[in-house]
Amino acid sequence: MKTRADLMEKIVSLCKRRGFIFPGSEIYGGLSGIYDYGPLGAKLIRNIRQEWSKEMFRQQENIFELDSSILMKRQVWDASGHTSAGFTDPLQECKKCHHRFRADHVSDSNKEKSKCPDCGGSLTAPKKFNLLVETHLGPVKDDSSLTYLRGETTQGIYVNYKNVKTSTGAEIPFGIGQIGKAFRNEITPGHFIYRMREFEQMEQQYFVRPEDAEKYFDFWKNERMKWYLNLGIKKANLRFRAHEKNELAHYARAAEDIEYNFPFGWHEIEGVHNRGDWDLSRHSKFSGEDLSEIDQKTRKNFYPYIIETSAGADRVTLVSLVDAYDDSDKKRLVLKLHPKLAPYKVAVFPLLANKPELVKLARKIYDDLRPQLMTAWDDRGNIGKRYFSQDEIGTPWCVTIDFDSLKDKKVTVRDRDTMKQKRVAIKELADYFKKHV
Ligand code: GAP
Repeated sequence: MKTRADLMEKIVSLCKRRGFIFPGSEIYGGLSGIYDYGPLGAKLIRNIRQEWSKEMFRQQENIFELDSSILMKRQVWDASGHTSAGFTDPLQECKKCHHRFRADHVSDSNKEKSKCPDCGGSLTAPKKFNLLVETHLGPVKDDSSLTYLRGETTQGIYVNYKNVKTSTGAEIPFGIGQIGKAFRNEITPGHFIYRMREFEQMEQQYFVRPEDAEKYFDFWKNERMKWYLNLGIKKANLRFRAHEKNELAHYARAAEDIEYNFPFGWHEIEGVHNRGDWDLSRHSKFSGEDLSEIDQKTRKNFYPYIIETSAGADRVTLVSLVDAYDDSDKKRLVLKLHPKLAPYKVAVFPLLANKPELVKLARKIYDDLRPQLMTAWDDRGNIGKRYFSQDEIGTPWCVTIDFDSLKDKKVTVRDRDTMKQKRVAIKELADYFKKHV
């Protein structure tokens, strides 16, 4: 087993080599904090989105799905607090090489706070740097056309709170969830896809009576932790961390992060927040639209409290890769992904590519399985090489069609993790795999 720093390097290299994740705009030298998902990575992150959607919109009750726009009126971000001090990171610049750093990261990595980590030059005093990515809408590029790419997906939920409630007849407690891109001008993106400038969030807002907020905060904490465990993430690598009062975001009354034990330390993958009445009261004030509720008993108005669960799809992708990566067996590298997450569930091989009768039967099995499960085809090299190639990308089962298959109508199914092989009847194959996925 290699050191943990090596592990990140190996994962980055596997991702590039096998087509999970590529550096953004790579042929132009790359773009810091931006990555593209390749043929396998696009499948992996799609499976993660699907698992989140299944959990929120099927397993849980009363959560409504939304797909709101990335661009919103600029006032949304004034109301949310993102254009003011709330959404800033402390920035320091080197007086010599003019590189810029996040002050809290410099102090993490460099005992001597005032020195530049790149050239040793002295740094300016920290100043506030806003993370919103600016853009202009319309033909005139002036202050009146300025707006932002959304810094979190959740603001689209608050802006549509009334629309969803009215169109569905929902009564609190209920939730609204959505998956989508968010953008932040991070000062120091890094750790591969851990901290990016364009990333994807899976956010759910649960609207409750103020007196129920604590109860639902605990409920959602538990539900979210269960979700990671059900994806097969190792329990020992997951923990909660409560925010101290001085690190709470501008909107939060209480917050706990779900953290993962990455090769670069324990870091946040999801936040569970009690946002109190901050969002609906602020949007009511700024928009003029009353988003309060009436208490049926007292006839008094109140703003629902919001319990938010906010996960990063890219961070969950990185967690699934790190947690699954296993090169403890010197002879092979295996991605022990949960079958639900594996890009391909099954790979089909004819034992010999130059035997038409084997290829014909293998092709038929491949064609039958493909509409039911993500199925790969491989007829290159020998069977051992094909197994190793599928192990590296996490395919849980390989199916080999040999000469016996032509007679007994059975095939060899090889298990990725145990490497055990067994004969399974061709007509039972699809059910055999589906039972496990
Ligand atoms: N709506 C609340 C919110 O956005 P956050 O803690 O700033 O809270 C929530 O972000 C989640 O979004 C994080 O736990 C992380 O998974 C993901 N995330 C935030 N910034 C990110 C970045 N720069 N790159 C990748 N993922 C990020």
